Amino acid sequence: MKILITGGAGFIGSHVVRLFVEKYSSYHMFNLDALTYAGNLENLKDIENNPNYTFIKGDITNETFINELFNKHKFDSIIHLAAESHVDRSIKDPLAFVKTNVIGTMILLNAFKNTWKDNFENKLVYHISTDEVYGSLGQTGLFTETTPYDPNSPYSASKASSDHFVRAYGETYGMPYVITNCSNNYGQNQFPEKLIPLFVNNIINNKPLPVYGDGNYTRDWLYVKDHAVAIDLVFHEGKNNETYNIGGFNEWKNIDLVKLLCQQMDEKLNREKGSSEKLIIYVKDRPGHDLRYAIDASKINKELGWKPSVTFEEGLNKTIDWYLNNKAWLHNVTSGAYQLYYQKQYSN
Ligand code: NAD
Ligand code: DAU
Repeated sequence: MKILITGGAGFIGSHVVRLFVEKYSSYHMFNLDALTYAGNLENLKDIENNPNYTFIKGDITNETFINELFNKHKFDSIIHLAAESHVDRSIKDPLAFVKTNVIGTMILLNAFKNTWKDNFENKLVYHISTDEVYGSLGQTGLFTETTPYDPNSPYSASKASSDHFVRAYGETYGMPYVITNCSNNYGQNQFPEKLIPLFVNNIINNKPLPVYGDGNYTRDWLYVKDHAVAIDLVFHEGKNNETYNIGGFNEWKNIDLVKLLCQQMDEKLNREKGSSEKLIIYVKDRPGHDLRYAIDASKINKELGWKPSVTFEEGLNKTIDWYLNNKAWLHNVTSGAYQLYYQKQYSN
């Protein structure tokens, strides 16, 4: 079976690629990635020479290139992760998110449809999506698969739009699909624009920790390897044309999470207790900041038997250790363009 995975050089994608390449020697995994600022082949060094793995550098918004690629390889399935993924960047440049997340997805869907015409037997498009499409919760309640879409940021609007197109292709053309909507991931190889790796990097460098607003925003955190296991399960055992929510059963207010991170970092860096917390500063809030996300993952649990295997303490511990042991990786991704991004995002 030929599987096209898009965005496989990114954070979540690299974990999914590795899991599939190592577990399924009868599949050939084609990793298509444009290597934007968020894509990094260092993430896949250990598997780059595996016989069932091919990396292809390319952009999903390049229609001619994508059509030629599908004509050549006739992929049986797509696991689609390629996206612009950072909410703050979507506020500054929404159009970039429409191009990759909406138009890029459409180009892939068309190429897949044109390859298989009306015969989609044993074919599948798997769209990796986010819980942010559901908008914001108040202090109580959980997102289920039937929660109405209500996206608030340009990022979540673009992901909601691509989810809708995937479903529309299922209904209109009979294209088999699955969609999963997952909560906040954390773990090794995450680009240090997202909360946890950004703050780990800043603590290492004794830089301020910019908490948006009052810090009382809540997210549900899931260890990235648990997400990859869920994706494997849904790909193989999920029902066609269904949606599954994936979450960590692990809600944290940002400020509490940051304080826990500070405590763990003090211990690991042998710094005086409380010293990292002194780096916390409260900064201007993110516009349209969603108050709370929390997932009801009982459908995937009941139907496919999935649940997270790594506790937050354990996952955070492993994540911090990975960044401390991979300072060259951190250094490489935070030099150059990152400095400019950081200055623009945090200068106020
Ligand atoms: P990421 O930003 O780390 O990686 C995205 C990858 O896509 C990069 O390798 C990048 O080079 C590639 N890419 C971007 N534009 C491309 C284009 N036009 N053509 C080809 N490749 C392109 O993202 P991530 O955090 O790993 O997220 C992966 C997917 O999972 C995204 O679709 C995201 O919406 C979704 N998701 C992420 C989270 C999370 O917490 N990070 C949670 C739920 C869902
Ligand atoms: O919920 C799933 C989503 O989680 C994914 O779809 C997105 O791709 C992913 O980026 C993530 O979105 P968030 O906006 O929740 O993640 P981020 O790490 O940017 O922020 C987490 C919380 O921390 C959020 O409430 C904003 C806050 N924050 C973030 C940064 C970068 C800060 O307070 N300060 C910061 O500097």
